[in-house]
This record gives sequence, structure tokens and C-alpha cells, in this order.
Amino acid sequence: MSLYQRSRDFILHRFLSKTRHGVHSPFVYSLIDQCIYSTKPTTPASITAYFNQLKRDQRLIKGMDYGQRKETSVPIATYAKRSAMPQFQVALMHRLVHYLKPASILELGTNLGKSLAAMASANPNSRAEGVEGNAALTDIANNALRECQLRNAHVSCAAFDSFFAANTSTFDFIFLDGDHHYEPTMRYFNRIKTMLNPGGVIVLHDLYYSAGMKRAWSEIKKDRSVTITVDLFFFGLVWMGKNQAKEHFSIRFPASLFRVFF
Ligand SMILES: C[S@@+](CC[C@H](N)C(=O)[O-])C[C@H]1O[C@@H](n2cnc3c(N)ncnc32)[C@H](O)[C@@H]1O
Repeated sequence: MSLYQRSRDFILHRFLSKTRHGVHSPFVYSLIDQCIYSTKPTTPASITAYFNQLKRDQRLIKGMDYGQRKETSVPIATYAKRSAMPQFQVALMHRLVHYLKPASILELGTNLGKSLAAMASANPNSRAEGVEGNAALTDIANNALRECQLRNAHVSCAAFDSFFAANTSTFDFIFLDGDHHYEPTMRYFNRIKTMLNPGGVIVLHDLYYSAGMKRAWSEIKKDRSVTITVDLFFFGLVWMGKNQAKEHFSIRFPASLFRVFF
């Protein structure tokens, strides 16, 4: 999708979305007030510093690049700048785990481990599992978790489909952050919704990344088992089977545009 189209979607979303005012659901109001628009807790400075120094690391990562769907040889620094999440989004992942307190977290698409580290550090009592298809990235991510002393998190090297075929666990919090296109997103969503514990949440990254991703998001909202969705442009939060009528919320995030750039 062109930068023009993405910017247009972003501006449109900011005009059409709401803040916490005008949200009548107590559950969603509290989520916005105490988590999405909160500034605390912050990601530990040691984790931010660790991933910032990877932006200067010129060691090469070889093997399958699932984003480009081909074998590549790319410096760690490029992944740290291009694929890892911007800080305002990492900070929200940290707050979401702190607020929702999931006992078990699954991340599909771990890359260098930045968002997994942010989530694992938010609740030391949770067990966080990452899945990454590239073996070299998996090693770097596991090393990052060790360096950040996050003993409650681990990354496995597997293609998502192979992971699904072998997995028997269920999770309270599932974050899907790989292959932002229609067909794989729908296939993964239909699989991960069967792996979600009651009351759990699915978080999708980059809802407006491509036309296919936008189409997938619109279909996910219509899914019979989905009740509450929160569209934050950069993230989509999905709850199922809560004792509540189906309701979709489009919420302005971040509250201040300043945070997108700084
Ligand atoms: C955008 S990056 C994830 C960034 C990471 N969540 C963060 O912000 O720190 C997406 C990752 O998903 C992995 N990926 C994409 N499709 C995959 C698949 N089908 N199986 C395994 N890994 C996949 C890619 O190798 C890439 O490292």
C-alpha cells in the first residue's frame, strides 16, 4: 500500500475515532483510561537501551526473511530499525500486559524480541512464548531475553503453520505480528481463536498495513464468535464470547500525535 494511502487511512481514522469520552462500555472505558491513555508503567529503561544498541549492530542475519518471502542476508541494525516496533507501540504492549495480567502470552512473529521483551517484563508471573521462522533471529531474540534477564520468556523457531500443527497449549493473550496480508491473517486468526482461553484477548498488529489486512480486519469484526473489538489503527484488540452484545470501538491512539514521531 502506498504511503499516500496509509497516511489517508491514518488521518481518516483520527477524524472518525473517539477518545474515552463517548464510550459507554465500562470495560472499554477502563481499558482506555487506565491502560491505553495511561503513561505508566513504562518499559524498563534497560530493555529500551538494549534494543537501541542493536540499531548499530552490523552482524548479518541470514536465512528466510518471512516478510519478503525470500532468503536474505540483512544486518541486525536493519531489522532493529525496520521490523521492530516503534517505542510508543512497544510501550502500549507493556501496559496491556500489565493491565490485563494474562498468565500465558503467545507472540507470533518475534523478530529480534523487542515486543516480547516488553510484554514479558510487564508481568514476571506470566509465561511468554514467541514464535519466529528465521533461526538466526530466534537466537538473537533468545539472547536478548537472557541479556534483559527475562526468565519467563522463550522463543521457538518454527513457521507459524508448523507451530500450530504441533501446539496443544492455550493462551490468555495472543499477539499476531507476521505476514500482514488477507489470506495468511484469516488463516492464522481462525487457528488462534481456537487457542484462546475464555476471557482472553487477540491482538493484531498493523490493521491498515495493506488492502488485504484491512479486508481481514473487517471480516474478523463480523466473525460470529467475536464480541468486542477495539481499533487503534496500529493495533486491533479482539475479545470473544464475553457476556456482552457485539460492539466495535474505534479509538484514537496515541492520544497525542507527538508520540508517533518522538
Ligand atoms: C514485524 S516482525 C515482528 C516484530 C516484533 N513483534 C517486534 O516488534 O519486536 C515479523 C516477524 O514475523 C516473522 N514471520 C512472518 N511470517 C512468519 C511465518 N509464517 N512463520 C514464522 N515467522 C514468520 C518474520 O520473520 C519477522 O521476523
